[in-house]
Amino acid sequence: MSGMRTLRILSMGIVLFTGLSLYHLSTNLQNMEANNVYHSQYPTTQITSINNIASNSTRAGNIHMNSNNNIGNTGDTNGHYAPPISPPVVVSDSELDQKQTNDHSPQGSLLLPISKETPLPPDIPKAKTLLDPNVKYLSFMTYAGLTNQFMALENAAYVALRINRTLIIPPITTNSHDNHNSNQRWSDFFDLSQFSTLTGLKVVEWSDIRPLNADQIEVGKRQVRAGGKHYPIWEKLADNLTCQVIYGFGDSERLHTTELTFARQFLFRPQFVRPPPRKNKTQVFDRAYIGSKDNLNMDDIVTIDDLVDRYEDNSDQLLFLSHSFKLKDPLGRRSWFLVGRHLHFLPKVNDYAKQLILHHAPETKEHGKYIAVHVRRGDIWQKCRDKTEEEMVTCIVPLGRYAEAVETAYRIAGERLPVLVATDSQSEEDHVAMAKLGWRRLNHNLYTTEKELGIFGPALVDAAILVNAEVMVGSYSSSMSRVAARRQRGWRQREALYP
Ligand SMILES: *[C@@H]1O[C@H](CO)[C@@H](O)[C@H](O)[C@H]1NC(C)=O
Ligand SMILES: *[C@@H]1O[C@H](CO)[C@@H](O)[C@H](O)[C@H]1NC(C)=O
Ligand SMILES: *[C@@H]1O[C@H](CO)[C@@H](O)[C@H](O)[C@H]1NC(C)=O
Ligand SMILES: *[C@@H]1O[C@H](CO)[C@@H](O)[C@H](O)[C@H]1NC(C)=O
Repeated sequence: MSGMRTLRILSMGIVLFTGLSLYHLSTNLQNMEANNVYHSQYPTTQITSINNIASNSTRAGNIHMNSNNNIGNTGDTNGHYAPPISPPVVVSDSELDQKQTNDHSPQGSLLLPISKETPLPPDIPKAKTLLDPNVKYLSFMTYAGLTNQFMALENAAYVALRINRTLIIPPITTNSHDNHNSNQRWSDFFDLSQFSTLTGLKVVEWSDIRPLNADQIEVGKRQVRAGGKHYPIWEKLADNLTCQVIYGFGDSERLHTTELTFARQFLFRPQFVRPPPRKNKTQVFDRAYIGSKDNLNMDDIVTIDDLVDRYEDNSDQLLFLSHSFKLKDPLGRRSWFLVGRHLHFLPKVNDYAKQLILHHAPETKEHGKYIAVHVRRGDIWQKCRDKTEEEMVTCIVPLGRYAEAVETAYRIAGERLPVLVATDSQSEEDHVAMAKLGWRRLNHNLYTTEKELGIFGPALVDAAILVNAEVMVGSYSSSMSRVAARRQRGWRQREALYP
């Protein structure tokens, strides 16, 4: 219903747009059939995953009090765990199973039932969690798409810095945007040792803390494919992991595909405990004012400072947060300024980006200058569907508006530099329109990016291409654009344009 309405509104927006502003565009545009050119397709089959981004904070009905310390044996080999501060409230298994109904893993339906897969050896050992007994750690559930996972990392890193803990960085984990059922280290793309030097924060990676052998990896993947279904081999190998409920996640808020995938791949069962009570000194903000209306439980941690205050004295060896992406910072974007901006691409990523640019625009050989446009389509449509008609046009920006922004970019650059486009648009019409404008679309299907840099290579090479542009034109509703814009401002003192 609402989908149909949105489609109608969308096409109205497009018609309106083509009527109003076509004549602003460059001459080669004027020969085009406006409706054909600007109409992109937004497949209705993708609607479901909006729930991954903006889920409802319904109160969980049956959270059980449990006086056991559900510390499990993860990393507990050296006895360095202290008992949880407040009586732990643990979400029961049946609760978890219910929550898993929100798991939209695309893998489940595509693959053979576990019983039909190649048999595994009978004696797979349990994985070990290798924590240094002299170090206190902080880690967190990674969340949603690649850029959100970056932002989750920024927030957690900032918290770790504030409470003086070594950050364990979970890998970039696959989610509903792909069907790789895999993960990749951040250090494949970013310079973590430079990051540590610049921030003063010690970091290690999850894959080093909990290394898995090939069989263990396979068991994890199979549990991901099985979704919430009981898979005895996984159950046997999995360890409990005490997980602090942050922003309601693991309690009133369901875990989403990425978090579940992360836990399943690494063979651990999060055991959720409520955070200790808020400290008197902590400033409490109006939820509407700081944009956390989606969390209704007043005892939940929604701001970074509340999290820091409640856990600064915590003596657990590993503090594992159920969530960090949505944490708010009413005092500004400190997580960006103090940590996020210090996460730089490795030279190999920038070099690969440069090669691609040269391939598409040999004229950049002399000066390396180009304009980059990020046209985000994908599930933007789902994020935009609740908007009013007016908001819709800014939420799903017609391609012509990008073309106008590129004209502005030419003026800023002082010359008509080559234009490179990073887009997830699958629409032929978008592609034809871009080609007619003379823009050069990056199409990683045609390159070896994934083979050379791994499954997240294409997206991160695109991110590097956006950042290294003379002028960047972004999609305001895309978090990938906004992070790229922040990097442009922070690293190159340039302001991105939004059509
Ligand atoms: C969220 O859930 C509550 C309780 O089930 C319901 O009353 C409310 O309408 C829901 N809100 C949205 C936006 O779905
Ligand atoms: C792990 O958690 C489950 C569910 O809460 C519990 O039944 C089990 O005893 C725990 N296992 C260990 C080793 O603590
Ligand atoms: C931070 O932790 C390290 C090692 O865990 C310790 O040596 C250092 O004194 C701590 N710094 C502060 C300011 O607490
Ligand atoms: C914190 O506030 C509570 C309730 O207002 C009060 O009872 C308690 O004494 C306060 N604690 C401190 C350390 O000030």
